[in-house]
Amino acid sequence: MAIVGMAGLGKTTLAKLIYHEYEIGRHFHEKIWICVSTPFKVNTILSGILEKLKPEKARIRGKATICENLQEHLKGKRYLLVLDDVWNDDPQKWDNLISCLSNVQDTKGSNIVVTTRSVSVASIVQTLPRHDLRKLSNEECWLILKDKAFPDGSSPLTNDEGRIARGIAKKCVGVPLVAKVLGNMMRSKKRDGWCSIQECNIWDLPEGGERILSVLKLSFDQLKSSSMKQCFAYCSMFSKDFKIQKDDLIQLWMAQGLLRPFTSKSNLEIEDIGDKYFRILSKNSFFQDVTKDDHDIITECKMHHLFHDLAKHISESMSKDFNQTRHMA
Ligand SMILES: Nc1ncnc2c1ncn2[C@@H]1O[C@H](COP(=O)(O)OP(=O)(O)O)[C@@H](O)[C@H]1O
Ligand SMILES: [Mg+2]
Repeated sequence: MAIVGMAGLGKTTLAKLIYHEYEIGRHFHEKIWICVSTPFKVNTILSGILEKLKPEKARIRGKATICENLQEHLKGKRYLLVLDDVWNDDPQKWDNLISCLSNVQDTKGSNIVVTTRSVSVASIVQTLPRHDLRKLSNEECWLILKDKAFPDGSSPLTNDEGRIARGIAKKCVGVPLVAKVLGNMMRSKKRDGWCSIQECNIWDLPEGGERILSVLKLSFDQLKSSSMKQCFAYCSMFSKDFKIQKDDLIQLWMAQGLLRPFTSKSNLEIEDIGDKYFRILSKNSFFQDVTKDDHDIITECKMHHLFHDLAKHISESMSKDFNQTRHMA
């Protein structure tokens, strides 16, 4: 079954809700979540499934051996497999994947859920009717945006401010990721800054992926420190869906010499600067899916696939600029 919708609409969120539903856990013997994204490599997906079932078998290579092992570990089981963010529209590759899974005996009642941005991908994979995610209403976007922009304790809005803020919620055209990012941006701005969001030329772009990416880029451009921008771009080196350990990331930023004090008078330790960068980036949704420890301190996080695309794009253009400058010197 395919869940279909544009980037940032909530496909992964919906699939996750299903995946973690109590009754789902009781119904299926095994649950497996694979982040597919690009490229669609059948062997990588199959070995990923095997690794989730039997971590000690992560190193097994060769499709035939992987399939034999899957046969051994999935046989007689009802399983739920989620393939998140599939882009492949080559039916042969899909058949290649399914032929291995359908050779596993006695898996009646098993289910594969695919999330994708593309209707043509859905048409290849679906055997059940696809689920088209609807956009949120303006009111629902407003609730998300309001929650980010005016956290509890903010001073009440004047009529004029309320009108501008609701106007911005409309610009989200039903995409919750956009509502979150714009809400975050509004939190750190005054009324004039809100007007500049409302009047910005991004809204001339046609609705869709490019416009959403431009909203994320706008939020990136408004990060105050250039070293924080570099720290974000650095995260493109993680694979999509990688669980980033906060402390490791700060150490990596330090090792790369990316952390700089906020002001010349700052006497923060370098680790504390890293921690502050991390908190600012998380608060602005550059990082999401955060896990906290018992003291409410973030220990790990992930990046939304679109923010990962943005980080990659920025890090590529940063290295291009660097090479050009070096060439000219
Ligand atoms: N119904 C919703 N209400 C509030 N926030 C949502 C909702 N659906 C998704 N989100 C948020 O929007 C962002 C994008 O959702 P995600 O599921 O990652 O989108 P997709 O997988 O379609 O790209 C996430 O930060 C998620 O928490
Ligand atoms: Mg997703």
